[in-house]
Amino acid sequence: MKNIQLQKFESSTDIQRLISWIDSERLNIIWASDKFSFPLDKNQLSDYLNNADKNNILLFKVTEITNNKATVAGHAELDIFGNNIKISRLLIDKTQRGKGYGEQMVKLLIKYIQENIKHTSIFLTVFTFNKPAITLYEKLGFVTTEIDPDFMRYENEIWDRQKMILKI
Ligand SMILES: CC(C)(COP(=O)(O)OP(=O)(O)OC[C@H]1O[C@@H](n2cnc3c(N)ncnc32)[C@H](O)[C@@H]1OP(=O)(O)O)[C@@H](O)C(=O)NCCC(=O)NCCS
Repeated sequence: MKNIQLQKFESSTDIQRLISWIDSERLNIIWASDKFSFPLDKNQLSDYLNNADKNNILLFKVTEITNNKATVAGHAELDIFGNNIKISRLLIDKTQRGKGYGEQMVKLLIKYIQENIKHTSIFLTVFTFNKPAITLYEKLGFVTTEIDPDFMRYENEIWDRQKMILKI
């Protein structure tokens, strides 16, 4: 069985790794909407990390441990707004996609929420064209509750966004 763990995103190495993963403006928006400008840099991500507590967000990486070797495969964030909890900034390293890390990461986030935060529903937002992410969320039981048409424009495209909820 794979040993996949959720760990804190906390170091300058974590920051450098995340910068290397966001290799296009399009991916930057798919991943983080308008939160960061492209290209990502150390200043933006140091602010993100240093202000996480103040902003009520928890930052995570997902790591697989094999034979004492750690492979960091992805990133995610939990945003806590009163009684609402949101999973956001989910990203798996392009070279590691399709191997189950995204699914494991979301399952571990759900478990973390159940054990530590005890909310009964979790929400997220996703662009409607992002079929890999939507298929993953549906597989884990999230259902679409709202569509936000024309949420933003990018190049010549109109991007709609949907909200999905999981009751736990
Ligand atoms: C979405 C993302 C996180 C998925 O991560 P992943 O590690 O590749 O996904 P997994 O290998 O764990 O796949 C789990 C399930 O997701 C779905 N899925 C993943 N990739 C898919 C694809 N290309 N097409 C359709 N479904 C897909 C499938 O249901 C899959 O289950 P299956 O293998 O039993 O069919 C990853 O593609 C990614 O980082 N994308 C760019 C950033 C992004 O879109 N983030 C989400 C913002 S809301």
